Amino acid sequence: MFANARAYWQSGKDKFLADLMKFLQIPSISANRELDDISVMQAAQFVVKQLNEIGMQNVKLHTASLLEHPLVTADWLHAGSDKPTVLLYAHFDVQPVDPVHLWKSGPFRPEVRDGKLFARGAADDKGQLFILLKALEGFLKTSGKLPVNIKVLFEGEEESGGEHIARYLKANSAALKADAVLVLDSGMYAPGMPTIATGLRGLICAKVNVQGAAGDLHSGEHGGAAPNAAQGLAEILTALKTPTGRVRIPGFYKQVIAPTKLELASWAKLPFDEEQYCRQELGAPALIGDKRYSVARRRWALPTLEVNGIAGGYAGEGFKTVIPASASANVSMRLVPGMDPEKVAADFVAFVKRVTPPHVRSEVEIISQAPAMVVDTANPYIQAAADAFKQIFNAETVYVRVGGSIPIAADFQAVLGAPVLITGFTLPDCNLHAPNENLDLANFYAGIETIGAYFANVGKMRS
Ligand code: BES
Ligand code: MN
Ligand code: MN
Repeated sequence: MFANARAYWQSGKDKFLADLMKFLQIPSISANRELDDISVMQAAQFVVKQLNEIGMQNVKLHTASLLEHPLVTADWLHAGSDKPTVLLYAHFDVQPVDPVHLWKSGPFRPEVRDGKLFARGAADDKGQLFILLKALEGFLKTSGKLPVNIKVLFEGEEESGGEHIARYLKANSAALKADAVLVLDSGMYAPGMPTIATGLRGLICAKVNVQGAAGDLHSGEHGGAAPNAAQGLAEILTALKTPTGRVRIPGFYKQVIAPTKLELASWAKLPFDEEQYCRQELGAPALIGDKRYSVARRRWALPTLEVNGIAGGYAGEGFKTVIPASASANVSMRLVPGMDPEKVAADFVAFVKRVTPPHVRSEVEIISQAPAMVVDTANPYIQAAADAFKQIFNAETVYVRVGGSIPIAADFQAVLGAPVLITGFTLPDCNLHAPNENLDLANFYAGIETIGAYFANVGKMRS
């Protein structure tokens, strides 16, 4: 069964690429929630069509309301009741594309350069969703069956913190019951180094709105007496962290559970050059953060607070001598195991209130919150993946945490009680969320074979 599928994967590369390029032309930015923007729906319909074409069953598109983006589910459950069932997760929505002038080719005009496919969503996560589809297709088209039972749950609002999927999961936990969950939405630590994620950071997203005077004022007429909302916001933001990046919210680090000695030892063995990371990968003059901890620990196992964007006043062409009446910032915090999102959010609100200068008013809106998660790697479903990586990449798997967040992953663990495998085939230079996002094509093709090998390996287990 596997051998025939593998021949299919190897001879179908051009077709897979052509289909993926069509998928990537759909500008499915989930942050756009205007009712007349149907591109996320079009991406969902594209996925539905693919699932039907490759021979999956019970393919369904779910819309909860016009204000939420759709989910897609499907299954194929004829491998036998003695075979495990794997639930597959990926998302077909993407991040916004700005600053668009920095893209070498249009974000929704996929282009291959130097063996990489450039487009928004190529890496995160449409390319990886496609890996799942083509792995399934290989078995279904050559043998008419799969080695394991498969359930599919793909979503269209991961990138905008949508809650449709979490509600759907809780309401349909029996229908989604599985022996393992495969989340294909992370990447490889380095080229040729298969990687399984052992944890994700959690995330709180908040908006800080600051109001000074009732309206904008002439900065000459009132400067020296009138409060400035942009200045007030800046004072709040700088109060949140020390110059080296330590978060000043009292108790912020108190609940943090440190990584295990084993984790720290294995991270210390990973190839890493701090200078190269700073200069080449980031192109930055210097790193920030507490030097007592390694960069890996700072990125994966310590909490952070970042200002993601600031708005207020006039910073456009030319100049406007104004004292802005209002200003706002998006601030997010990455959480690690031990931290309670409710408590951190409440502490944040209280701290902003405390550091707000008396000449302005501030208000905090908590937009979304999700806890961190760690996964237990001592189970046969993780081993089946490591074996598949070994077969296709001829390399041992490394186990690392991820600094990013996939909010639904913790829900899979909690609601389904099944082991969650978080992995993927993107490379560190894939530019996710940034201009010139790309997917390495060799990894795309190897990814299809690896996921296929994983299904074959799980098919040899008993449920
Ligand atoms: N695929 C990423 C998460 C990720 C990032 C995994 C880096 C591995 C490495 C996911 O699509 C993502 O971007 N998540 C958001 C969460 C959000 C917008 C609610 C994140 O981490 O900011
Ligand atoms: Mn993603
Ligand atoms: Mn993302």
